[in-house]
Amino acid sequence: MTRKGIVLAGGSGSRLHPLTLSVSKQLMPVYDKPLIYYPLCTLLEAGIRDLLVITTPHDRAAFERLLGDGRQWGVSIAYAEQPRPEGIAQALLIGADFIAGEPVALVLGDNIFHGHGLAGLLRSAAARHSGATIFAYNVSDPGRYGVVSFDASGRAIELEEKPAQPRSSHAVTGLYFYDADAVALARTLRPSARGELEITDLNRAYLARGDLRVERLGPGFAWLDTGTHESLLDAANFINVMQARQGLQIACPEEIALAQGWIGAAEVEAMARRCQSSSYGRYLQALLARGGAA
Ligand code: TTP
Repeated sequence: MTRKGIVLAGGSGSRLHPLTLSVSKQLMPVYDKPLIYYPLCTLLEAGIRDLLVITTPHDRAAFERLLGDGRQWGVSIAYAEQPRPEGIAQALLIGADFIAGEPVALVLGDNIFHGHGLAGLLRSAAARHSGATIFAYNVSDPGRYGVVSFDASGRAIELEEKPAQPRSSHAVTGLYFYDADAVALARTLRPSARGELEITDLNRAYLARGDLRVERLGPGFAWLDTGTHESLLDAANFINVMQARQGLQIACPEEIALAQGWIGAAEVEAMARRCQSSSYGRYLQALLARGGAA
């Protein structure tokens, strides 16, 4: 089985207007890279090489210019369109032919994950071919998200979408690993009161089957939201601070692909040349000089 990966990068980005009146939210800069690099790298870190990027029809060409067919990273990137933001779970219907009966990981194009040990968690989730794995993160404002509550033994017992009175402070993050049943289950969903196919309903279907695994991302991890001007700026500052302090890039697809053995020095060199006037290009040069190891 090959696990497929979908980055959902549609939506209207209305909380970022006027920034997103002409450019997609997922193309906005987060310090030195376009936002979509971060969730895309989350899938690459999970070892996923067969990818689908779902965009609005209007933004598709810009994503294709940025990411191409994935060859530069030794992966395959296909594209599909979501005409209207009719819900996150719709990604599984739009991507049904691409998924082709395989397990799939879905990540939201505006979610940033970072932390020591994340790659291991991602690979374990990707290796599980039965059931679903989602990730919970403690936040100060859970009511803005899907919320998962646990029983005394730590087992997930309930999922609620944007509850007025959250029963827990654990938000469900925008990264979901599903087994080969996801498309069939998504086809049974009906639009919610706000007219969307809710990913929370799909996760509830797995919960009802006793097939939902909820991994808690502890305080050592960062899960950043980028939906508002303030959170987008916070994310950029976070990336800048971490990268400047450690001298390591966060979400560098060339570095991940090189470490995985998907590409060689020639591909990294090619990107280093395209970015030679920027700190990103200089990082790639330095990466090559030290033989690819962080
Ligand atoms: P949201 O932040 O809920 O929506 P949005 O990006 O359109 O922004 P706003 O609320 O400011 O109008 O979406 C979360 C992520 O999921 C984001 O990356 C967009 C993506 N998304 C889609 O691509 N299609 C959809 O139908 C939905 C609901 C979200």
